[in-house]
Amino acid sequence: MDEKKVEKKVMLSGIQPSGDLHLGNYLGAIKNWVERTDEFDNFYFMADMHTITVRQTPADLRRRTLEQLALYIASGLDPEKNTLFIQSHVHQHAELGWVLQCYTMFGELSRMTQFKDKSSKHQDNINAGLFAYPSLMAADILLYQPDLIPVGEDQKQHCELTRDVAQRFNHFYGDVFKIPEPYIPKTGARVMCLTTPETKMSKSIPEGCVFMMEKPEDIQRKFKRAVTDSDTENCVRFDPVNKPGVANLMSIYSAVTGKTFEQIEQEFSGLGYGAFKPQVGEAVVEMLRPIREEATRIMKDKGYLESVYRAGAEKASYVAEKTLRKVYKKVGFVAR
Ligand code: TYM
Repeated sequence: MDEKKVEKKVMLSGIQPSGDLHLGNYLGAIKNWVERTDEFDNFYFMADMHTITVRQTPADLRRRTLEQLALYIASGLDPEKNTLFIQSHVHQHAELGWVLQCYTMFGELSRMTQFKDKSSKHQDNINAGLFAYPSLMAADILLYQPDLIPVGEDQKQHCELTRDVAQRFNHFYGDVFKIPEPYIPKTGARVMCLTTPETKMSKSIPEGCVFMMEKPEDIQRKFKRAVTDSDTENCVRFDPVNKPGVANLMSIYSAVTGKTFEQIEQEFSGLGYGAFKPQVGEAVVEMLRPIREEATRIMKDKGYLESVYRAGAEKASYVAEKTLRKVYKKVGFVAR
């Protein structure tokens, strides 16, 4: 009877545990993963191998990796329906990563925005791993033959490079890799910093960044202090060029409540920023509250977390091995 079962499409994504998870990670990525969990066969991981392209404190990296897993589960990723794993537990990533480095061009890697940003921030440590990072990311993705890669806007360039590398490899060896598509949300794809709304929200400016595990009063304080605009209009209106701070707050509010920009403009018509900012803060606090509480509970159960990441690595490794074997055969390695 099962023979006719239609295979589900595959969705895959990862986040680096290089900092505590923030609102950008949630609205740009995790929320989108959770919403489509039943439709797809899902693989989500903690990209710990990527984090060491920048120096990490080992104990912090370990804590954040586990907290990230707890937050995935608390956000609604049921480990029964989603394969949740730690990247370094699945050795096929490193192996395919090496092969794909040999199919990624120096020029392509030099053009990557994330490499340019990070190498200018860490000039004393422009290591080969930082440069070759997108080849490992291509391996992360292509091992699982996914259809969609749900990511925020900033990862689009890496996804496009992944497609180019896959197409290049397929051109030499036939249809080895499925060519995946990035899947970017309509709202929340690029959450901006609350204090400098011209740059994307990231842990590097903590005052402008809302962390998923942060206390409600700290979140509210950050929203109340959020930069709006320098004119005296004091009017909630969507104008990303002249009012980037207001536009960002409206985008956040829209992503959290599902309201359109017109509805938001109407809701705050005549009320000004003094009413608007705490209301956005409140909506974010209430969205994150149950997630934070559940993650705190899960974090205490180390045995449970371990059982999830072990089972996840086993499942992931099984799928990844099939692709890796095919690749090794195609390039001419003698079978083990
Ligand atoms: P990373 O760890 O920087 O970010 C994880 C996810 O969060 C999204 N994101 C944002 N979305 C909206 N607004 C923001 N301010 C914001 N900041 C981050 C990112 O777009 C991403 O979806 N290279 C990846 C990690 C990775 C990966 C992969 C992703 C490694 N291998 C394979 C997908 C598939 C990265 O550095 O994302």
